Amino acid sequence: MQLVLTTFDIAIISLIAATVTILLLLFGMSRGAKRQKFKLHHVVVYSAVVIQLLLVIFWMFPRLLWLISFGILGDLIGNWYIIVHEIVGFLALGIGLVISVIFLIKPGMPPALVKKTRRWMWVVLILWIIAFLFGIVNFYAGYLAG
Ligand code: HEM
Repeated sequence: MQLVLTTFDIAIISLIAATVTILLLLFGMSRGAKRQKFKLHHVVVYSAVVIQLLLVIFWMFPRLLWLISFGILGDLIGNWYIIVHEIVGFLALGIGLVISVIFLIKPGMPPALVKKTRRWMWVVLILWIIAFLFGIVNFYAGYLAG
């Protein structure tokens, strides 16, 4: 039997996986960092970053190129929510990735580094949630509306 996935199927899988990343980040914050279980915090947060990175590389970025080939850049106002999603998503994932790599390169959680990056971790969480919400708008507009 051959399994053929439509773009809608992949979008649903992507939506579920992105939901998992949000839950992981919230879990990593509330059960990990807040309770000083930093090993748990690291594993959970790294997992969220890796899942989202794979989603962007193998689905969202190719999909963006496809949307561009259909001319979304010709109507920036009409497609504002796609543009906002991409910019906020890029920042969320980019900063999240940088923080993750910094802590992988400098293990042992130096207190000065923790102090410096802590605020940015909140920034990442907030941007991530905004990107996710705009992702849902994208999904609705792309597959469910009209
Ligand atoms: C933290 C970062 C991000 C989160 C949480 C996120 C989340 C989502 C979600 C939930 C969807 C709806 C499900 C889907 O249709 O696949 C979506 C769609 C989409 N995202 Fe992201 N995203 C992020 C980053 C990015 C980035 C950096 C790009 C730019 C390359 C991007 C491009 C897209 C595109 C083009 C779609 C529409 C895909 C479609 O046609 O179905 N996303 N995103």
